[in-house]
Amino acid sequence: MKTLSDQAVGTAHGKIILIGEHAVVYNEPAIAMPFLATPVEVIIEKIDGDSVISSSYYQGFFKNVPSSLKNIYTLTETICADLNQSADGMSISISSLIPPERGMGSSAAVATALVRALFSYFKKSLDQTSLLNYVDISEKIAHGNPSGLDARVTSSESPVYFKKNSRFTSIPLHVSGYLIAADTGMKGQTKKAVEDVAQQMKQSYKQTRQLITKIGLLTEEAKTAIEENHTVHLGELMTLSHDCLKQLNVSNEALDHLVDTALKQKALGAKLTGGGRGGCMIALAKTAKQAKRIAHKLMENGAVETWIHALGEDFND
Ligand code: PMV
Repeated sequence: MKTLSDQAVGTAHGKIILIGEHAVVYNEPAIAMPFLATPVEVIIEKIDGDSVISSSYYQGFFKNVPSSLKNIYTLTETICADLNQSADGMSISISSLIPPERGMGSSAAVATALVRALFSYFKKSLDQTSLLNYVDISEKIAHGNPSGLDARVTSSESPVYFKKNSRFTSIPLHVSGYLIAADTGMKGQTKKAVEDVAQQMKQSYKQTRQLITKIGLLTEEAKTAIEENHTVHLGELMTLSHDCLKQLNVSNEALDHLVDTALKQKALGAKLTGGGRGGCMIALAKTAKQAKRIAHKLMENGAVETWIHALGEDFND
C-alpha cells in the first residue's frame, strides 16, 4: 500500500481452492491459495466535487452506482463515516484481473483493495482484524452469508487450511512449481452443485459419504505435501480429488476435458477448483516452461483465459 500526496493505492489478489471443495461443507478440511496471478488494484485520487468511480461495470458518479456495486458504495460510506471523513472529492478507480463469478474471490479482493486504498488515502493505519471486518460488510451485501474465507485469502500471501466453523490456519508454503488456472468461460454453479451433493447424500449416503471422507484425507495429505515440499505428491492428490469430485457429479465435460488436456501435457496434477459445473480448473507444473506449454494447450482446448502463478522456483527431480 503506497501513498503519494492526494493519491493512494490498495491492492489484493484472487484465490483458488487447491483441494477440499464440497467436502468442506461436510466438516472436512479444505485448503485455499492466494492466486497472485490475478491482481486487483484500487487507486483513489483527490478531485473537486462529487466522487466518481470507474470499474469494468460502471463509470460515473459514485452516488449513482448500479446495484452490482452497492457493496462497494456502502463500504466506502461506512469507512468514511468511521474515519470522520467526507465521501466526496474522490476519484476511485478499480482494475481487476480476477474473472467475476468464477469462485476466485473477485468481490472480496476488490473490497480488500478498496479498504486498503481508503485507509491509505486518509493516512490511517489498518490492522488485519479491521480489514476483515470491513470486507465482511461488503461481502454480506454481495453474497448474503460469506464464510470469510475469500476475505482471508485475497488479503494474504499464505495458503489457508480451514474447516467449517473453526479458525483459519495459515500454512507455510514450501512447494516449488507453478499453478495454472484456466477459465472454462462458464459461470460456476456452486449453489446448484452443493444442493445436488446434499441430495446424493440423502439418496446414496454410504457412497457419497465415502467420497467426502476420501477428499478430506487427500486434503490432510496435501497439507503435509505443501509443508514438506512434495510437489509431485501434491499433484497426484489434486488429480485424485478431481476423480472424487467427478464421482460426486460436480464436474462437467468442459472441466474434465481441460483436466485431461493438462494431464496429457504432463502436468503433475489437475482438478476443477471451487463449486464446479463451470468456473475454473487448476493444474500443477514443474517448471515455468512446462506451465506455459500447458496454459497454451488449455487455450487450444476450450479455455477462454489462463493464468500462471509461480509458487516457488522451478522444480527439479
Ligand atoms: O466456488 P467457490 O470458490 O465459492 O467455492 C465453493 C466451495 C464449496 O465447497 C463447493 C462450497 C462451500 O460453501 O464451501
